[in-house]
Amino acid sequence: MAQSGLDLFPYTRMRRMRRDDFSRRLMSENQLSVNDLIYPVFVLEGKNRREAIESMPGIERLSIDLLLKEAKELVALGIPAIAIFPVTPAEKKSLHAEEAYNTEGLAQRTTRALKEAFPELGVITDVALDPFTTHGQDGIIDDNGYVVNDVTTEILVQQALSHAEAGADIVAPSDMMDGRIAAIRDGLEQQGHVHTRIMAYSAKYASSYYGPFRDAVGSAGNLKGADKKTYQMDPANSDEAIREVALDLQEGADMVMVKPGMPYLDIVKRVKTEFGVPTFAYQVSGEYAMHRAAIDNGWLAEQPTIMESLLAFKRAGADGILTYFAKQAAQWLQKK
Ligand code: PBG
Repeated sequence: MAQSGLDLFPYTRMRRMRRDDFSRRLMSENQLSVNDLIYPVFVLEGKNRREAIESMPGIERLSIDLLLKEAKELVALGIPAIAIFPVTPAEKKSLHAEEAYNTEGLAQRTTRALKEAFPELGVITDVALDPFTTHGQDGIIDDNGYVVNDVTTEILVQQALSHAEAGADIVAPSDMMDGRIAAIRDGLEQQGHVHTRIMAYSAKYASSYYGPFRDAVGSAGNLKGADKKTYQMDPANSDEAIREVALDLQEGADMVMVKPGMPYLDIVKRVKTEFGVPTFAYQVSGEYAMHRAAIDNGWLAEQPTIMESLLAFKRAGADGILTYFAKQAAQWLQKK
């Protein structure tokens, strides 16, 4: 049989190595560890407050005092970093998003409280204006509702500086304005924040998978069904993602991100292969909601499905994953 040179069976039997646990372990190519996990959290004003998010079962908005308790658990689990997203009360939203750079704003106070209590926990802040604008867009709009790039960027710089001053380890611009990475890097350097890292949402798509997040931070109602297609990327495009990443790296990004995650693993793979830089992916709110819904209906098995979804990011080349499953996954990894 094998003599033909075409049919190597039975000399090559792929199933030999799969037969036993020990050889499966030896040839396993990728591994998920707690070091890969970043936990996104939603923060509320007030004290001792927690609110469920209907479209994200199991995830809550927490006031700072309760978030500190949560952070203690995250540190004990060994999770390297959290990403904070403030829920802004309606009366603090405005056309020019002044609250975004309020040194006493919720994101800034949360950052200070976290860094004081848990200096070893990396704090990542979201640099974008959508939680602070009355229209829910990520920037300042003109009379036609178009998000104006350079005016927005100036405010983003102020926002990033207010985060750095509060002690943020990483600022993460998720707004997709052109030139904002260079502007933020310049601002940080000028103010002496030379260690503040920038995680650029470089390839961020105009995705339908952000729906539950917009419920969570309360920007969905403000957007009134409008989209973000004039700044976030077209899901049809892949080469464009490479250009976005190249620009952000030239402008001084320390890490780049692809978002959403699972439907865009081809982009993660291309970015990691072409640039070889720290590459992150965001398993977004809609991906969380889909998993939760199927699991809660008994249609998918909880632990194996979630862990498989996260391992897939590693296989695609991601160095880390922002995921609402981070705490749960860390608990499972610890037991193992
Ligand atoms: C906004 C922002 C969004 C997310 C993170 N930052 C939503 C959006 O662009 O509308 C989405 C995260 C998620 O869906 O989990 N700048």
